[in-house]
Amino acid sequence: MILVTGATGSTGRHLVAQLTDRGAAFRALVRDDDKGRALGADYAVGDYDDPDSLAAAMAGVDRVFLASPGAQGYLVDGEQPMIGWERNVIDAAKAAGATYAVKLSVWHAHRGGPMSEGAHGVVEDHLKASGLEWTILQPGGFMQNFLRPETSLGDEDGNLIGPEGDARVAFIDCRDIAACAAALLTGETGRGESFVLTGPEVITYAEVAAKLSDGRGLPVGFSGQPEAAIADRLRGLGLDPALAAETASLYASLGRGAYGQVTDAVRRLTGAEPRSFDEFMAAHPDAFGALARA
Ligand SMILES: NC(=O)c1ccc[n+]([C@@H]2O[C@H](COP(=O)([O-])OP(=O)(O)OC[C@H]3O[C@@H](n4cnc5c(N)ncnc54)[C@H](OP(=O)(O)O)[C@@H]3O)[C@@H](O)[C@H]2O)c1
Repeated sequence: MILVTGATGSTGRHLVAQLTDRGAAFRALVRDDDKGRALGADYAVGDYDDPDSLAAAMAGVDRVFLASPGAQGYLVDGEQPMIGWERNVIDAAKAAGATYAVKLSVWHAHRGGPMSEGAHGVVEDHLKASGLEWTILQPGGFMQNFLRPETSLGDEDGNLIGPEGDARVAFIDCRDIAACAAALLTGETGRGESFVLTGPEVITYAEVAAKLSDGRGLPVGFSGQPEAAIADRLRGLGLDPALAAETASLYASLGRGAYGQVTDAVRRLTGAEPRSFDEFMAAHPDAFGALARA
């Protein structure tokens, strides 16, 4: 039995659909009954902050998909809250007798890194020391961020803001991350390995803005800004100054090309090519309806 955490999230929801298609035995962890019923799959109600609920959800589980919301604009006991959340899931899995976890992490995860890179680095170390077998998925930027305004920086008019320079990013469709997780959780390969997951192409933020313009049927511009200007903007949005500086440093690393190479990991894990940005947009006519009308 597989436990899918983050089952309503950007990757978890696709993993639920793909495990259902495969006929795999799994249970989704959700925060309330309404979300569980909406998934249409076996589910357990639980919360990362409630270890008893995690212990109950783990009954009969041998494999776990681990995903939490990523870095937040606040700390708990001096650390990103996702560290405690994911530690609780790993510890509950081990205590319940599970043997394997597939963790959704991030490219360049390392202890001491900015925001989610640093937090995932701490969790990766905890997982590797847990006694569970593990596989770590390290994607770069999600295409699905462009469906959620809160996950990409923009101005008042809907224009994108990003790093200065010719920032090229190998954005990935979360359906392909889910496909990698599904293959791992239902197979025997990839134990003790980390995989950097990307889409099939690198594209610049300016190119993304042009594609969003076509998809939304209204102009979306792009403004590349220096690290200090991005930190200022984030502080203006109410982010703690230290976390604003960390986030701005991540944008600057994007500008230096840190997420700008393509890997073949999706094809190696799933046997299929990852989806392009155009395929991602075509799958979301609700958000990009102007494409069909063009
Ligand atoms: N966005 C990117 O470009 C990107 C790139 C690389 C890696 N990542 C990593 O991908 C991961 C997922 O990020 P995301 O932004 O896409 O998030 P997400 O998967 O869309 O959402 C987080 C999931 O965790 C659940 N959750 C939140 N708090 C919970 C709690 N206390 N107890 C139980 N479940 C809880 C949410 O459930 P509800 O529906 O109830 O809220 C949701 O299913 C993060 O670790 C992030 O660092 C993101």
